[in-house]
Amino acid sequence: MTKMTVDEAILQRRSVRGFLPDEVPQRTLDEVFAIAQRAPSNCNVQPWVPHVVSGAALQRLRTALVEAGRQGAPIQPDWPAEGKFNGVYRARQVDAAVQLYGAMGVERTDLAGRRAAYVRNLDFFGAPHAVFIFMPHPFDTREATDIGMYAQTLMLAMTARGIATCAQGALGLYPGIVRASLGLPDTQRLLFGVSFGYEDRTDKANAARVGRVPTGEAVRFHR
Ligand SMILES: Cc1cc2nc3c(=O)[nH]c(=O)nc-3n(C[C@H](O)[C@H](O)[C@H](O)COP(=O)(O)O)c2cc1C
Repeated sequence: MTKMTVDEAILQRRSVRGFLPDEVPQRTLDEVFAIAQRAPSNCNVQPWVPHVVSGAALQRLRTALVEAGRQGAPIQPDWPAEGKFNGVYRARQVDAAVQLYGAMGVERTDLAGRRAAYVRNLDFFGAPHAVFIFMPHPFDTREATDIGMYAQTLMLAMTARGIATCAQGALGLYPGIVRASLGLPDTQRLLFGVSFGYEDRTDKANAARVGRVPTGEAVRFHR
């Protein structure tokens, strides 16, 4: 049990992009994944299939993914991942990138630096664990909303125990590599991954902070 309130966990959670190598004890992993099972889902179908990868299995995957990223291997995500943002959404995306690259000291024009920062995703930002969240075929958008609920529930349970997380669409860009490495059938389609472990507070990337638009701009109350 932890003493952090739900509000505190929500406010404390942020994406961490630099981890210590220390593993999270299995007892704690069992606890947080048991909590995450309580996430709600359409008709309670619980469509998430999380594969938690650590140790030698993570090392193998890290090597294969980083190699693909360094070589610029074509991405083959199970769902389209172009993510073209316009208007306010583009402005928010740019702001998040400015915060992150600014903290890391990577200039906007430094293409090699930006590429290296992207490849760090495929290195799990040095984390000792990652969870790859799959959905069985033919689940689609409706069940993907359940996966989002699952992932946030999991990340909050982790935050409450001092475990840092980073949800990463980047970990869903090479599902073929992940399936081959873990011996999974292609009836399981990959949405994204979450790297997790203990924060390396000396990593410059972890100084980045992003804001949110004010509630008044986001929420419409109707009566
Ligand atoms: C589904 C999902 C995918 C994401 N993919 C990435 C990613 O590939 N790489 C990354 O560094 N951050 C990724 N993020 C983290 C977002 O950039 C981050 O949540 C957002 O900027 C808000 O910052 P915060 O999490 O620190 O509050 C992702 C977040 C979500 C929810």
